[in-house]
Amino acid sequence: MVRVKVSFLGAGRMATAMVTGILHKNLYKPEEVACLGAPDGSAENLSSQTGIRHISRLEDLLIDCETIVLAFKPQQLSSMGPTHAELGANKLVISILAGSTLARLAEKFPKARNIIRAMPNTPGQIGAGITCYTAINELKRTDRETAENILGSMGLVLPLDENMLDAVTALSGSGPAYVFEFVAALRDAGIEAGLEAAVSARLSLETVLGAARLLARSGEKPETLRDWVSSPGGTTLAGLEVMEQENFRQIIVNTVQAAKNRSIELARD
Ligand SMILES: NC(=O)c1ccc[n+]([C@@H]2O[C@H](COP(=O)([O-])OP(=O)(O)OC[C@H]3O[C@@H](n4cnc5c(N)ncnc54)[C@H](OP(=O)(O)O)[C@@H]3O)[C@@H](O)[C@H]2O)c1
Repeated sequence: MVRVKVSFLGAGRMATAMVTGILHKNLYKPEEVACLGAPDGSAENLSSQTGIRHISRLEDLLIDCETIVLAFKPQQLSSMGPTHAELGANKLVISILAGSTLARLAEKFPKARNIIRAMPNTPGQIGAGITCYTAINELKRTDRETAENILGSMGLVLPLDENMLDAVTALSGSGPAYVFEFVAALRDAGIEAGLEAAVSARLSLETVLGAARLLARSGEKPETLRDWVSSPGGTTLAGLEVMEQENFRQIIVNTVQAAKNRSIELARD
């Protein structure tokens, strides 16, 4: 039987995104990847959708693998005991659990070869995410490659110090939800302005999508593109003036700060 190289603990949305990306990029063969979920849950689905192995005994899942990916809910970390600690010996452990610090992960996997804490985001589900990560010890070249390949299955990858991760969580981790809220607000504003709901929904989504693509392709700062479409006395400037008067930027500062504070609190629990 082919040896399992990467074992996923948790088989929900994020694990599905990673497995799909890993297989799409041919990083591993389906039989080299395995998963375990809560009993009677998502792991069977992930296995049947992708062809990876579903192994229901923890020992069988972890005993021989090279890399363990933690992709369950952060609350489930506390239920991990000495069996996990032993099975994690000499393995590379990659955690995507929000708010679980390297120190906390090291309590659970004291014998791991190295431990990585990563913060992905939901666009990773379509390979368009950005994941920041940090390691507890200096990474060997091969472990860095493994980690960047696995995390890169969801999009871009950026190494950062752990003390940045609460801010990362607040910005790129939670950020997609702010953008969804902005699209919803734009849609509702369009309806208020007289558009049919379906038309307004389409225009607001395509506007955000198109503007983001243009920004990425242009290589310009967002302020530059903003100024290019704001002619004196024009409609855009009239709108932007309201955003300034109503302190739009301060709302975003407060939003990110609140998320960061919550991330710090969660890490303490
Ligand atoms: N979604 C995001 O935007 C995002 C961003 C950054 C980080 N994260 C982190 O990613 C992790 C997973 O999030 P998600 O959105 O993928 O959650 P999810 O869809 O709810 O998946 C959680 C998975 O964990 C499994 N599970 C539950 N108890 C378990 C146990 N005791 N042992 C092993 N597996 C168990 C669940 O199995 P059943 O379905 O069978 O119960 C399910 O497969 C979370 O820790 C979250 O903090 C998420």
